[in-house]
Amino acid sequence: MNLLSSKDLSKEELMYLFNNVDSLKNNTEPSNRPVNISLYGNKILINVFFEPSTRTSLSFQSAMSRLGGNTITFNKEYSSINKGESIEDTIQTLSQYGDIMVIRHPEKGIVSKLSNISSIPIINGGDGNGEHPTQAIVDLYTIYKKYGSEFINKTILFVGDILNSRTIHSLINLINLYPSMKIYFLPFKKRNPPEELIDLVKLIHNQCQEDLIIDINNIEYEKYDIIYCTRLQKERQTENNYEEDIFTINNDFASNFKEDAIILHPLPRNNELDIDVDSNKRAWYFKQAKYGVDIRMAIIDYCITSTEKKNESNSLY
Ligand code: NCD
Repeated sequence: MNLLSSKDLSKEELMYLFNNVDSLKNNTEPSNRPVNISLYGNKILINVFFEPSTRTSLSFQSAMSRLGGNTITFNKEYSSINKGESIEDTIQTLSQYGDIMVIRHPEKGIVSKLSNISSIPIINGGDGNGEHPTQAIVDLYTIYKKYGSEFINKTILFVGDILNSRTIHSLINLINLYPSMKIYFLPFKKRNPPEELIDLVKLIHNQCQEDLIIDINNIEYEKYDIIYCTRLQKERQTENNYEEDIFTINNDFASNFKEDAIILHPLPRNNELDIDVDSNKRAWYFKQAKYGVDIRMAIIDYCITSTEKKNESNSLY
């Protein structure tokens, strides 16, 4: 099974993934490892990143290692792309070398197109300002770990470059599965959510347009359970003078929120989130990064096992 968009996931699949994390982690405790090696010892994950990455690529590699499998990494700079080979030929070749592939690329929509020519499952590791489904699953899992099944009644405030953050776009697709959650936006200047996204939120969560976008000078701090920050997506800006468009969340600002609110950030951060917030008990972003490994174990397992099941049932005919 491919994982290309968070729109393709159902509530049942999300809960399956969340519930599978603990059993996978228990199975891969060193004492139990032989069990898993027999499952994953001959499996290979291929990391194919055409854009920089720290967390997505290495958490996938770490997750695959914890499952007992291996990872190989495509390096564009030293690849035959520099001899003029097309990306299609590259992906078709790489799909002969392993069992599952994670692709990140600056062009929106390209990962879906490439999935059509791959013979192994493809995971979208981020396509331009489009989607980042696995980060969205990590984010929702983090919210679930904090609030348990009550998460469906929580309110989230998205902060930053809402226009261009693919992690926000993908997470909203998941939150849309839970109409009782509420969504608000505190965008950087000129980085408001696209109109169609506002329309969808209004409709699904029964919210009214007037109070969806929050003014930084008029924040009802008590209202929010989750504050989800993002950096300005510099690589996706058309103008250069953007520094004046952003604001910074520091510890004084963060301390206004509810005592048991959590602050998330997909990372990397720039100056939108001061390092003095790290000591605030609401800061959950490094925990969120750790959950990135846990949940990606469940994602790899789900994509590989569902593909194997499909292949088995096809071979019966
Ligand atoms: C995000 C991304 O690549 O979209 N990072 C990540 O995968 N954790 C966020 C970002 O780059 O701002």
